[in-house]
Amino acid sequence: MLVTIPAVVTPDQVRQLRAKLDAAEWVDGRVTAGHQSALTKQNSQIPETHPVAREVGEIILQALGRNPLFRSAALPLRVFPPLFNRYAGGQTFGTHVDNAIRTHAATGQRIRTDLSCTLFFSEPDEYDGGELVVEDTYGSHSVKLPAGSMVLYPSTSLHHVTPVTRGARVSSFFWLQSMVRSDEQRALLLEVDGAIQMLELGSAAAVKLTGVYHNLLRQWVEM
Ligand code: NI
Repeated sequence: MLVTIPAVVTPDQVRQLRAKLDAAEWVDGRVTAGHQSALTKQNSQIPETHPVAREVGEIILQALGRNPLFRSAALPLRVFPPLFNRYAGGQTFGTHVDNAIRTHAATGQRIRTDLSCTLFFSEPDEYDGGELVVEDTYGSHSVKLPAGSMVLYPSTSLHHVTPVTRGARVSSFFWLQSMVRSDEQRALLLEVDGAIQMLELGSAAAVKLTGVYHNLLRQWVEM
């Protein structure tokens, strides 16, 4: 399941955070790539222990904590501290699957990557190319979102970033371990949650369906 979450951060925040990111030191993005993906990865990143990465990452995590769609779609258990990348001058990232386990350099925190997240910090008209293309059983999905918006997709998916042929594509990327490991189960819970929102609050149907939601979650959750 691929979920788009609009306006995770406000346009004002995008401007402020983007200025901090642009002023940081960027290094070769292969520092966080596995042996295989290092072969096809061309971009720049801010080192994960860099103060700007930690400061902006914390603001993103706070915004996500307040976002009902994110909480409902991801059911996050542990979120990896956000990282930042930039593609320019034809840079691209070929088809790959993200590593199953991530250990954060500074905190030593280890997570299983259930969901991959990309939060865009460039407006689509600032650059050409740079689409995130995610493959699933229903075909390929091309994603290019407004600055401040985010996409969540299963970390099991093959994906790539098309070459950026004009301008620069700056984004935050990170992973999370969900309380519900199965993408299918998570998708069902999100459907049920969406149906509850359509019902009148406190109605018999809403109460009953909320019970179903929690009883499904109880069966599937792991913490
Ligand atoms: Ni990836």
